Amino acid sequence: MRPYDADVSLDLDLRPAPQPLPDAERAAVLADPGFGRYFTDHMATARWTTDDGWHDAAVHPLEPFTLHPAAAVLHYGQEIFEGLKAYRHADGSVWLFRPDKNARRFARSARRLALPMLDEDDFVAAVEAVVRADVAWVPSAADGQETSLYLRPFMIATEAFLGVRPAHEATFGVVASPAGPYFSGGVQGVNLWVTDRYVRASRGGTGDAKTGGNYAASLAAQAEARDRGCDQVLYLDGEEHAWLEEAGTMNVFLVTADGELLTPALGSILEGVTRDSLLELAPDLGLTPVERRIGLAELRERLADGSVTEVFAAGTAAVITPVVGIRGEDRGQGAVYEQQVGDGTPGAASLALRAALLDLQYGRTPDARGWLRRVV
Ligand code: COI
Repeated sequence: MRPYDADVSLDLDLRPAPQPLPDAERAAVLADPGFGRYFTDHMATARWTTDDGWHDAAVHPLEPFTLHPAAAVLHYGQEIFEGLKAYRHADGSVWLFRPDKNARRFARSARRLALPMLDEDDFVAAVEAVVRADVAWVPSAADGQETSLYLRPFMIATEAFLGVRPAHEATFGVVASPAGPYFSGGVQGVNLWVTDRYVRASRGGTGDAKTGGNYAASLAAQAEARDRGCDQVLYLDGEEHAWLEEAGTMNVFLVTADGELLTPALGSILEGVTRDSLLELAPDLGLTPVERRIGLAELRERLADGSVTEVFAAGTAAVITPVVGIRGEDRGQGAVYEQQVGDGTPGAASLALRAALLDLQYGRTPDARGWLRRVV
């Protein structure tokens, strides 16, 4: 048996925080949480070794880690993570959205990064235990605000060893952070820089795993986008630099004049939970979901002739972010092109899909597909 195929079952010990943040201070944070700036009172952790499997699983007060300076994660980036949200409904109940999808992707990422397997039910149980311990931190989405509790499960290789091989020790954790919109200007729409210089992933690489290295490698491209006056990067494929991939932290979608919802097929992109949900919801809104290769040339032609009417990016953190323009550099010519999407404002289908997804997540419409899981 390979070390990362170990069987597990977490027995979570609950150690409540003796001094949670006072109510008034927490309320001040929840009034304007931003994204990823504040953390709740608790976290979950579990340790794993090849000899003992998973052990020391607990929900306990949030605290810093102690890591040996030679821990494998610090040198070779053996790390994976997830992102999902807990939503408070109008009656005060708290729900997760399709946590089983995150659990499955976490397991796939673990396999790709040669980290130990965590049972999918244990993943969900740990997330739920943190939500329960910190339920007071789940904002109420009163006044239509898109606030939620963002959950960040992760796993790192902790063994102190400088040889390159799967580590024999790892730690799983879940931290939680109250969240408002990911982009402050979000629903107003963002511009994407089509980078020709950087690629995010190649076939056989780690593009379809949620691992820190993919995000570290995106930072220079993100800086390039900012230098070019754009909010985010749009990546092309690693082989031909011709096919749309994703926007680094989000999947990309096009809406066509004849009612297709187009998105790049899976392969070297992340299999987003939001991506999958939108493809399933599309027919409810009269859109035909299509997953296929989409060329940059096709996008540019169809933006020009008006047969692509909308573009948006989608992910757990960013929900649906309309894209109002793309900019890039023509290969070999050095000239910058710039194209507006539609009339340069968020499109009707993007906003309708966004509303449909949020209505479902916040319990404002019936959950016909059984995607919501009640925690409290
Ligand atoms: C998410 O959408 O949950 C992500 O993981 C994107 C990001 C904030 C890294």
